[in-house]
Amino acid sequence: MTQQTNKGTALITGASSGIGAIYADRLAARGYELILVARNETRLHEVADRVEQAHGRKVTIVQADLGERDDLARVEGILKSDPAITLLVNNAGFGGVTPLLESNVDRMEQMIDINVTAPTRLTYAAAPAFVARGGGTIINIASIVAVGVEILNGVYGASKAYVLALTQSLHYELADKGIRAQAVLPGATATEFWDTAGLSHANLPAAMVMRAEDMVDAALAGLDQGEVVTIPPLQDGNDWIEYEATRRALSQRFAHSMPGTRYLVAAAA
Ligand SMILES: NC(=O)c1ccc[n+]([C@@H]2O[C@H](COP(=O)([O-])OP(=O)(O)OC[C@H]3O[C@@H](n4cnc5c(N)ncnc54)[C@H](OP(=O)(O)O)[C@@H]3O)[C@@H](O)[C@H]2O)c1
Repeated sequence: MTQQTNKGTALITGASSGIGAIYADRLAARGYELILVARNETRLHEVADRVEQAHGRKVTIVQADLGERDDLARVEGILKSDPAITLLVNNAGFGGVTPLLESNVDRMEQMIDINVTAPTRLTYAAAPAFVARGGGTIINIASIVAVGVEILNGVYGASKAYVLALTQSLHYELADKGIRAQAVLPGATATEFWDTAGLSHANLPAAMVMRAEDMVDAALAGLDQGEVVTIPPLQDGNDWIEYEATRRALSQRFAHSMPGTRYLVAAAA
């Protein structure tokens, strides 16, 4: 049984399986008490029992469907009112593999509810509370499709691009107020995510699928190293540093009252 200093409480969404369940184990080992959120209460209890036995930490379960406004509001209320919470992991989410013409728009809207609206509202609940309490950490689970939007379903890619952008903005706005923000961009990871998306990861080349344990351990190593964006499967970290430097430099070149000259030629024709 691990017994480290108490680091406060971590609230993890989507903790009933996959990546969220591993975060529960690893954060308890690091000294956090836990609040685990998901829809499946039985599985939440299984994760909680396992973590309590392994690490002797207090674990609270919150059964909630983050696509339901009332449930989401309940979780927001916990983040606002529980002064012990020092860490939020926005992990709950699901994806798809179908292209636009084969996707159901109602399912896409549900995806936006869980992948975009829920982490946004939970961030808006946690960030001011963390600032008032003198600090806190927000880990947002995005995906490599935030950059590679063509890889899977487009709404899924767009939802994760949103998570990445929100996290970078959080860091920009709130780092000096004691908020740590980290976006984690996993590649293909061996979880039920793929079954939900309609393609078992067993159908993917084994060489491109990471174990959830390895993904979370790498993500936490990135957090320890102070990264704002952590991409566990990226082999050379300098690739991201260069990409970011290019993006930031480009973002300084948009403040002009006139269009680029290439468009002035077209307008005169
Ligand atoms: N696996 C990958 O290859 C991969 C790659 C990149 C990013 N990600 C991201 O990693 C995160 C975790 O996914 P995973 O791979 O661990 O897949 P997973 O095993 O399917 O876990 C998804 C978690 O989200 C919860 N969830 C889903 N809908 C919910 C809702 N309406 N309300 C509350 N909780 C809900 C699920 O719990 P309940 O069903 O009990 O509600 C489950 O705990 C997701 O954001 C996913 O987009 C995964």
